[in-house]
Amino acid sequence: MPEFDLSVDICGVTWKNPIATASGTFNFRESSRYYRVSDLGCITTKGVSREPWGGNETPKIAETRSGMLNSIGLENRGVEMYIDHDLKPLKEAGATVMANVAGHTIVEYCSVAERLAKTAVDLLEINISCPNVKEGGIAFGTDKTAAAELVTRVKKVSGAKPVIVKLSPNVTDITEIALAVERAGADGLSLINTLKGMRIDLNTGKPVLANGSGGLSGPAIHPVAVWMVYETARVCRIPIIGMGGVMTGADALELMLAGAKAVAVGTAALIDPVAPTRILGELAGLLRK
Ligand code: SIN
Repeated sequence: MPEFDLSVDICGVTWKNPIATASGTFNFRESSRYYRVSDLGCITTKGVSREPWGGNETPKIAETRSGMLNSIGLENRGVEMYIDHDLKPLKEAGATVMANVAGHTIVEYCSVAERLAKTAVDLLEINISCPNVKEGGIAFGTDKTAAAELVTRVKKVSGAKPVIVKLSPNVTDITEIALAVERAGADGLSLINTLKGMRIDLNTGKPVLANGSGGLSGPAIHPVAVWMVYETARVCRIPIIGMGGVMTGADALELMLAGAKAVAVGTAALIDPVAPTRILGELAGLLRK
């Protein structure tokens, strides 16, 4: 771990360092075999909804030449199970935790935010960018009026918990949505979620993923993330958590130079569970240099 102070303030919450896990790519039982989860700046957990969601049919994952496609469909056990079985052990282990919040409707998002406001969770990440569900998710993230309305309503029920809004790259101009949610009261932004994509099986002529399309992540999308963070940081004042294809400390630093205050590691951790701490060490080395 770095021997100098790398702490950052994210919306009033002190992170030990600027490296977080990205939603949906962290498993406590697996990761804690390799590192102390409290060594990272923040653990962002998988999208959680009011009731359990079954997710999409398999296959839900496909490799691509420079990344992967996923179409999980926000499969999760619902907020009550999340509080007891995910949040509690993470807080007991000393982690700073950001809960990724999902819903089909504004009422559903608000129910989860209101419930989590009464827990030890540190931050809420409102997921308006999942490309794999028919209602909610990206439907809010591609419409600035709907996104702003959702944020206004979530802010009313989330108490003192900072509200970070996770943005989609699947838009013409990400700064329009970013500005709309900032004006609606968002405390921070996280970007980018995955880019919508598809692979076709040459033998069947059919999409590889059961859902047809999925979200592309991994190194292929890193330059897109750098560009979108850069554009957003030029117009927004609230802190940005940058993510998208971060595989090395240099990739993380690049996002920070583009304007991110912190960086999340996602797909890299699915290849190598220690990637977040390795990337933290590499980032510290580059900063020292
Ligand atoms: C999924 O669960 O399908 C992915 C989540 C996301 O892209 O936000």
